[in-house]
Amino acid sequence: YMQRGILSEFGKRIPKTYSRQKIAVITDDHLKEIYGEQIERSLQEAGFSTRILSVKPGERSKSLETAAFLYEELLDFGINRADRILAFGGGVVGDLGGFVASTFLRGIPFIQFPTTLLAQVDSSIGGKVAVNLKQGKNLVGSFYHPQMVLIDPDLLQTLDKKYFRDGLAEVIKYGAIRDKDLFFRLLHQYDTEADLLSDMELIIYRCCGIKKEIVEKDERDKGERMLLNFGHTIGHGIERVFQYEKYTHGEAVAIGMHEITKRSEKMGKTNPGTADEIRKILIKYRLPYQMPDLDIKELLKSIQHDKKSLGEEMHVVLLEEIGKGYVQSIPREAIHEYVTGKMAES
Ligand code: GLY
Repeated sequence: YMQRGILSEFGKRIPKTYSRQKIAVITDDHLKEIYGEQIERSLQEAGFSTRILSVKPGERSKSLETAAFLYEELLDFGINRADRILAFGGGVVGDLGGFVASTFLRGIPFIQFPTTLLAQVDSSIGGKVAVNLKQGKNLVGSFYHPQMVLIDPDLLQTLDKKYFRDGLAEVIKYGAIRDKDLFFRLLHQYDTEADLLSDMELIIYRCCGIKKEIVEKDERDKGERMLLNFGHTIGHGIERVFQYEKYTHGEAVAIGMHEITKRSEKMGKTNPGTADEIRKILIKYRLPYQMPDLDIKELLKSIQHDKKSLGEEMHVVLLEEIGKGYVQSIPREAIHEYVTGKMAES
């Protein structure tokens, strides 16, 4: 469900199967302070019994230790499989809350209420839930779909600009891989942020629709779903090299989309001019597009040794043109050319 202002009345949208049914709300301390009372009121008015469980804001909370803390809290609240968990927050809260919901008592139905643009258009949909290990992000998790996703576009009005742009990079990605009209609308319309925000329902709806269509065909990420990783091979590498401190996920993906398209265009795998359209749109939305000053060997090592992609082959996502993405399987060492423009020395 998407509706402006739904935050104040979402309780009544959640199907209730018995009176005083419990909903444990997983959120972070910052969001609890701002929205805690409103959330509790909306759920209680709809007849639910609620408790807010909050964790520290930030990626560090996406851990097995925090999950263990939440299991204890859920036991204390007396949650069972007929009850619900609601994850209210950005990607960290959604992934952590979903992971806890998928494992506690072998699975509690859960609801995603994403509060950032990135979570609204990407992580709240598609069922990927996970926590991090010290060796890497998202190394423990499962595919566990929410029963319901609630989106309030008004929440974006107070979202920090940096995080708004973070999500816009994923919106641009959807246009680049699947929807030429969306891409060029973003490039040529919306002169101000107010213009963009006024159309946000349509934009979010389109992005969710593209993700839904792709995930329905390839839930387990063995084929078409990999398209969603356009810009992510180089992007994840950049994030890791800078230890997740210098660039947000969206900023790193923005650089990744432009860099790989620049290379694939030179290799004759992408129509000429495509990288330039990506450069223009990233400049318009004040996202970075150029490879930062970094140790390229370290970047290549990080990409080639990605713990989630083992084996001789790896996949890159390329564009034929704007709106048409495709997945290409390449030998692991060939990534060198896609990152540096030069073949690996043998
Ligand atoms: N965020 C990429 C995916 O859900 O597959």
